[in-house]
Amino acid sequence: MNRPANGSFPPAYRAVITGYGSFVPAKTLTNDELAKMVDTSDKWITTRTGIKVRHITTDQESTALLATRAAENALDEAKMKAEDIELIIVATITPEMVFPSTASFVQRSLGASKAWVFDLAAACSGFVYGLSIVQQFIESGRLNNAIVIGAETLTKITDWTDRTSCILFGDGAGAVVLERSKDGRKGILYSTMHSDGDRWEALNCQAYGSRYPSSKKLDDPNKIYMQIKGREVYQQAIRRIVETVTESLDHCGLTMDDVKMFISHQMNARIIESAAKRLNLPDEKVFINIGEYGNTSAASVPIAFDDCARKGKIERGDIVILVAFGAGLTWGANVIEF
Ligand code: UT7
Repeated sequence: MNRPANGSFPPAYRAVITGYGSFVPAKTLTNDELAKMVDTSDKWITTRTGIKVRHITTDQESTALLATRAAENALDEAKMKAEDIELIIVATITPEMVFPSTASFVQRSLGASKAWVFDLAAACSGFVYGLSIVQQFIESGRLNNAIVIGAETLTKITDWTDRTSCILFGDGAGAVVLERSKDGRKGILYSTMHSDGDRWEALNCQAYGSRYPSSKKLDDPNKIYMQIKGREVYQQAIRRIVETVTESLDHCGLTMDDVKMFISHQMNARIIESAAKRLNLPDEKVFINIGEYGNTSAASVPIAFDDCARKGKIERGDIVILVAFGAGLTWGANVIEF
């Protein structure tokens, strides 16, 4: 291992993950159950995506509820009291309501009265974007701690008659607590974020914002659902994941040999495997849990991180790469010494 690279000096403080947690609704939907709703099969979904089952919220369960439960689990792990949190970021594209932010509801349910809070809309990249923001605040000495949550109820904006998209998505939330460490070594070593607004049409849900407000009749009723151009997303995702991981490792002066685990946004097992292959990553360094959750957008990286850590696949001191790609288009990565 040969750090830091590019002539940069390590900061005085680093943002260390001291707690992690997740929460998914109890109700599930299997591929076989989906095959009774649309013209598909367990075999097609498993081979093309790796998904076997996804978790689905009931009408009574909302994004803020999932986010709060995941945050409580992360706070328990960090042994931190909610009243000590200084910042709460909720990454989501399925917010509790138009406003106030989902983070406001989470603050209220947690009793995190000292925190300032906001939502972050960068779709599947929202959680890694959130970590990048917290990294800057902690490294500059402005914050002692923060909690970043990725939470989604995508099944509430899913068209259950569209077999090309409804097989993909699930609901859930994941969270991490980050704290300032004076050990300039451990923590988030590097974050890089990117976007390409020219490709917004590849993934979207067009109602009900200012362009298509709820006060006007929609020209196309399907605008209330997620629309995806699956093939375009597939190709862009592989390309951007490979680019951004390569860039991040180069910046840190690390190689794939130094990396213990590659934790990608879980959008399709084939996308993750193709990217990992191009990065020359062996299977044991690639964490995939999409089979049990489907694609949960901003929640997928923190759910995967929590799952990976609880399964003992990463330990303190390991180098872990988080990478995400999604609507916007947006993509980014965090290199972490856990
Ligand atoms: O996190 C970012 C959001 N995620 C995405 O946007 C997803 C990214 N894209 C993907 O994961 C893949 O492109 C999909 C899983 C959506 C589709 O897989 P694919 O291998 O790219 O399939 P395809 O779209 O090329 O379709 C192959 C065939 C088509 O039939 P024909 O034209 O070959 O006769 C589709 O009509 O599979 C058909 N098909 C299905 N068949 C059974 C499409 N969806 C289904 C289905 N069940 N659910």
